[in-house]
Amino acid sequence: MSKLFSEATLGALTLQNHLVMAPMTRNRATGNVPNALMAEYYGQRASAGLIITEGASPSPNGLGYPRIPGIFSREQIEGWKVITDAVHAKNAKIFIQLMHGGRIAHPLNLPAGARVLGPSAVAAVGDIYTDAEGMKQQVVPQEMSESDIKVAIEEFAQAARNSIEAGFDGIELHSANGYLLEQFIRPNSNQRTDRYGGTIENRARFVLEVVDATIEAIGKERVGIRLSPYGIFNDMPL
Ligand SMILES: Cc1cc2nc3c(=O)[nH]c(=O)nc-3n(C[C@H](O)[C@H](O)[C@H](O)COP(=O)(O)O)c2cc1C
Repeated sequence: MSKLFSEATLGALTLQNHLVMAPMTRNRATGNVPNALMAEYYGQRASAGLIITEGASPSPNGLGYPRIPGIFSREQIEGWKVITDAVHAKNAKIFIQLMHGGRIAHPLNLPAGARVLGPSAVAAVGDIYTDAEGMKQQVVPQEMSESDIKVAIEEFAQAARNSIEAGFDGIELHSANGYLLEQFIRPNSNQRTDRYGGTIENRARFVLEVVDATIEAIGKERVGIRLSPYGIFNDMPL
């Protein structure tokens, strides 16, 4: 039998085979809450060794696209439990991808009171889909204050704890594809002059603080990160 179908070791986990499903946003979480359709979808794919879920936001501010799930409310945690149960019933492991959209967002997609945030007040070039009004131009985000940054780090840490409560085997931090974490790393979206901007050490600071906070929350065996240093999606530079 092909090695592809033999057991694999990933840190402390044993996977039933070497197949891993990439994270894919599906926009099916009406009201930003995981639902039965999603449980069916992930259950159907649980012959894999490991599933990485679609991006799920740690904060109302990170819900920049229509109908993407969150992992910050009680209702969301309960919704995800049905999904992790469906996947574990078929012996697959499942990590949730924590994705904060940052400036890749539109006020029409956000719940009441949420804000479009970014490292700097620089809009991404391009359009974004909204359910209410179709395609719209990307907006200028509010530059995050030091206190906004602290709140966001704690939101990631709490989302990591919520993920374990919801039955996930671990989390993947989405620091790729032009979303909030990568917006801090890249100099076109991060034009800050404080300790979170300028040198690469400074531009990496927020991401590394999120890494530390989530490891502190749930342990290093359960935390992964996705990076895309050569990606240009969502107005990231070449
Ligand atoms: C519909 C769709 C949604 C996606 N959503 C996400 C996502 O939520 N998070 C993420 O990290 N990547 C996302 N991706 C990127 C995929 O994980 C993957 O990197 C991409 O499809 C390239 O795969 P390939 O290298 O097998 O060609 C998405 C891709 C597609 C096609």
